Amino acid sequence: MKLSSYSVENNELCLRTGSGDFVPVSGLLEGGYQRPTYIYNFDDVKARLEHMKQAFKGKCHIHYALKSNDHPVLLKKIAELGVGVDLVSAGELRKALESGFKAKDIVFSGVGKTKAEIKEALQADIAQLNVESPAELKRIEQVASELSVKAKVAFRLNPEVNPVTHPYICTGFRENKFGMDSSFFDELHGILNDSKHLELVGVTAHIGSQLRDLSASIEAVEKSLQTFEKWRSKGFAVKTLDIGGGIGIDYSSLDTTSEYEMIEEYGAEVLKIIEGHDLELLSEPGRIIVGRCGVLVSEVQYIKETPHKNFCIVDTGMHQLMRPSLYQANHQILPLKASETSSKVLYDIVGPICESADVIGHERPFQPLFEGDLLAIMDAGAYGRVMMSDYNSHAKPLEIVVENGKIVS
Ligand SMILES: Cc1ncc(COP(=O)(O)O)c(C=O)c1O
Repeated sequence: MKLSSYSVENNELCLRTGSGDFVPVSGLLEGGYQRPTYIYNFDDVKARLEHMKQAFKGKCHIHYALKSNDHPVLLKKIAELGVGVDLVSAGELRKALESGFKAKDIVFSGVGKTKAEIKEALQADIAQLNVESPAELKRIEQVASELSVKAKVAFRLNPEVNPVTHPYICTGFRENKFGMDSSFFDELHGILNDSKHLELVGVTAHIGSQLRDLSASIEAVEKSLQTFEKWRSKGFAVKTLDIGGGIGIDYSSLDTTSEYEMIEEYGAEVLKIIEGHDLELLSEPGRIIVGRCGVLVSEVQYIKETPHKNFCIVDTGMHQLMRPSLYQANHQILPLKASETSSKVLYDIVGPICESADVIGHERPFQPLFEGDLLAIMDAGAYGRVMMSDYNSHAKPLEIVVENGKIVS
């Protein structure tokens, strides 16, 4: 059994360091609790990147999906591990370069790149722009010709697979806006043939996020490889096959065995598929790398008991962690200090935002809760603070990065 890097020890929620020591989460709140606080355990990020490298036998260059968590200290530390980055805007490009990622290790995805963003990416000379439509390819060609440079592009395929995940994070089905239909081939071929400013370097696909069954991902890799070979057969010197991200985590448990195994199986399957093909393998994982490293600590403000429900109103909510409201995600919620009592009360754990969607956990059995109790929303390292909104103008959460059990920022 492979435990998460947080666990309950002697009734206290603890962070587990890379060397196996336990540090109470409450002790990481410097000066006591002030306001909602994200805590990120970098040891966990490091272990997962290492595991992923090993699963692919060192034959896959990892491009961390920066959108999943862009905390500057985490980014800097990830860059120091020699990992690349996948990004989706000029703002993310600047963050990546400031954090120490090298241009040669940057891939740029996203369906809506503006001219200014394309210009910035070309001027930075990044490794590849992942192109999502013929119209975008024409725009890249125009900007590259104005700059008199050659743009390195990879074509993002929509492999028309049907991954099992929430509809809002499914990207590889034919009805999604992402990637390119295989019927675009001739048009893309024409644009490439007519241009001196485009270099086709690869093929990419990313079919969705929070995938707990990777059969559609495997199918997408097979289809991407066929497309890759088709371009090669037309005389294009494609070299990169970028398999995207998507591996999910088990939000219902602190046992991470299944996800570690999933990384291993995926690595072995992909290596089998590409065996004998001359290519550079890239991947763009986000959630599987940082999802488990983070918890969001919040304070109980009020307990409101009605004839119908018990509400536990906390000081964080959908403005600071949107996943429960947006995707009906079920994050575990644990008290920082568990009481000895075995009696349980059902609570809706809700935030302060003026929306009935602002529910972090529905009907959760809990020890009796009181004003001032501290609760941790687990597995909030990915798509947490990055999706924060300013709606209702609450103070922004604090963020703490921990390495080897010590606060580093
Ligand atoms: C193009 C692209 N690559 C990679 C990712 C990372 O996905 P995940 O966090 O599920 O690994 C995303 C996010 O959905 C994405 O849009």
